Amino acid sequence: KESMRLRWQEIHELSAGYFQKMLEERPEGERGRRYFDGRNIDRDTMRKFRLGYTADSWDGLINEMAKHGITPGELSEAGLSVKKDNGDGRISFYDRFRGRVIFPILDVHGKPIGFGGRVLDDSLPKYLNSPETQFFHKGRNLYGIQTASRGIREAGYSVLLEGYMDVIAVQKVGLFNAVASLGTALTRDQARILKRYSSRVILCYDSDEAGVQAAFRAGEILINEGLNVQVLKLKGAKDPDEYLQGHSKEEFLQELQKSLSYIEFKYEMLVADAVPETITAKAELIRRMAPDILRIKSAAEREGYARFLSLELGLTLEAVKEEIGGIDQKRL
Ligand code: UTP
Ligand code: MN
Ligand code: MN
Ligand code: MN
Ligand code: MN
Repeated sequence: KESMRLRWQEIHELSAGYFQKMLEERPEGERGRRYFDGRNIDRDTMRKFRLGYTADSWDGLINEMAKHGITPGELSEAGLSVKKDNGDGRISFYDRFRGRVIFPILDVHGKPIGFGGRVLDDSLPKYLNSPETQFFHKGRNLYGIQTASRGIREAGYSVLLEGYMDVIAVQKVGLFNAVASLGTALTRDQARILKRYSSRVILCYDSDEAGVQAAFRAGEILINEGLNVQVLKLKGAKDPDEYLQGHSKEEFLQELQKSLSYIEFKYEMLVADAVPETITAKAELIRRMAPDILRIKSAAEREGYARFLSLELGLTLEAVKEEIGGIDQKRL
């Protein structure tokens, strides 16, 4: 098992090197270089994130790895090639990642453990990721952690983003506490990783409706793990990468400072949907917020949010507390 892991690591290291070399040196890499150039990614950033490119070929990686004594079968177990049954008992293999720019997923030591690949146009799927294998679990890793483990400790909080390009853009301006989940909804394991470095997190997902809904779910998971959650919804940009193309680091930091607590954010979003005018609507709003408030581990904070709702809605604190607590008064 240990020797299998070493082999898997070697395959990832060699593949990352091949993709990097394609992007940085080879004539076929020109498309990839132009793509990253168009997204304002310089050579230095390319190296730091070990970005790569793979030409539109069915066997570029397979042939290159054969030179290193790695079989197509081994590549397929590592998730880098795809096994195809031709029906007549013959089996063949082809490269999983073709004609894409490559974002290696690095572990906390900076070692590649998986890959994300983005198309250069608007075809689908936009991103392709390494599949789950016995050694790679998307839900147990975070993109950007190779620098963020230290960056989060130093900043005293983490910034959780939606995408690979967001992490690169935010770290590029010197905020090394930025990470993203790997193309899946945030998991408890990922929340626990963040908590290892700091109990404070600012969520800054895309500003579209999908991003808002994803922030609600991620916030629940983070609060359940005992983290202190704030949310920033950027205005005038669809995500942090786009925001930083038109704004400075200082402006982004100012926005981070203005971020709302999870409860305030949820309240703002619910009220934006429908302003509660009647007593009934106000009571209904409190009941919708109740599970979120009851999830918070600190009694002082729960009390504080009850007070916030009482002031916002013009109801007494006692009434709000009773509505939140329902029969389970002790929790509040
Ligand atoms: P987005 O669609 O917001 O992409 O998905 P993005 O990060 O802004 O990418 P650009 O700027 O268009 O290049 C957010 C994240 O969700 C995952 C990726 O991790 C992506 O960065 N994702 C998205 C996938 O895994 N597969 C997809 O097909 C799309
Ligand atoms: Mn080689
Ligand atoms: Mn998105
Ligand atoms: Mn984007
Ligand atoms: Mn996005």
